[in-house]
Amino acid sequence: MLISNAWYVAAEPQELEAGIVSRTILGQRLAIFRTAGGVLCAFEDRCPHRLVPLSLGKVIGENLRCAYHGAEFGSDGRCVKVPGQSAVPGAAAVRSFPVKQRYGYVWVWPGEAQRADESTIPSGFAAADDPDWIGGYGHFESIKADYRLINDNLFDITHAEFVHPESFAGVELQFYRNARAGTDFVDRGMTYNIEPNSIHFRTCAERLGDEGSPFWREMLAQSRGVKKWDQPVNYKLEVNWWAPSFLSFRIAIRPYDEPDAKPVEIYNVHAATPETENSSHYFYRTVRNYGDASMQKMFLDAFDFVFGQDLKILEGQQKVIGAQDLLDLRPISFRGDLLQIEARKILARLDPATRGIN
Ligand code: FES
Ligand SMILES: [Fe+2]
Repeated sequence: MLISNAWYVAAEPQELEAGIVSRTILGQRLAIFRTAGGVLCAFEDRCPHRLVPLSLGKVIGENLRCAYHGAEFGSDGRCVKVPGQSAVPGAAAVRSFPVKQRYGYVWVWPGEAQRADESTIPSGFAAADDPDWIGGYGHFESIKADYRLINDNLFDITHAEFVHPESFAGVELQFYRNARAGTDFVDRGMTYNIEPNSIHFRTCAERLGDEGSPFWREMLAQSRGVKKWDQPVNYKLEVNWWAPSFLSFRIAIRPYDEPDAKPVEIYNVHAATPETENSSHYFYRTVRNYGDASMQKMFLDAFDFVFGQDLKILEGQQKVIGAQDLLDLRPISFRGDLLQIEARKILARLDPATRGIN
């Protein structure tokens, strides 16, 4: 079930510095590039002449030149030059999609161009692009799984105990199983609120010791430049999801006996972009308010390792589900599945006629 009238992360800005990016989004192969003057373009990756991928071509000034017979297309997609003839065929144009750079990503609107509304790009991604935070980018292309399985996975905190035992297993995962409606932070509890196009949940724990994930104490050790942190910590997690497929996780840690200390924080954003009905690209950024660039590789490697663990599960699920819809197969559900089911309900009711976010 694809929602075409929505913004999706199409590329990281630095990918465009290396050349034209060819990426399939919602079943459409796109050529994404920047002209010499800096205009961002997202074209259908198909020359209207003999259907050669335009991503094989070259940016010449403000135009994109096809690799085969050299036809050139302006940034609006119209053919402006055909080598060897003075006239350009009247209807010669390539489809061009709305494209924007915002919050550290290149976003594309694959649906009806006149409905593209920039205000629907999730503002929660802004923090990941704030120069006060330090961090990096990562992505996985062509994951063989429906983007909704990625949503489900990110909503589902409980799987970490089994899929990520060495990093995230801790008592705080259990709070999720007893989530209740609300917007307050509740010590060792979890509250959630469901809005028309978004879902939010949060938890916290004071004096979380060895029973919590070792990662929180590790964050403090890293930030203070010490080998180990043995003391309990105050832990806080806030998660936001925006339809169709965007999440942010904000984790704040403080020494339990330093209530006024500035928290050590990590802010992760996740974006799943459907490639087809049953495959997806997954983009993430992980930024933090401590450390320096020398920690970058360690964080990105850790993130890739953790998501690599999820990847096996997601692609395994998709193989079993095939072309069907997960819920049509009548799976049993547990308490921890509550919010992923609510997210699927939001997606199912998003403007059923036009499948749009607005
Ligand atoms: S295929 Fe592009 S100019 Fe001929
Ligand atoms: Fe996971």
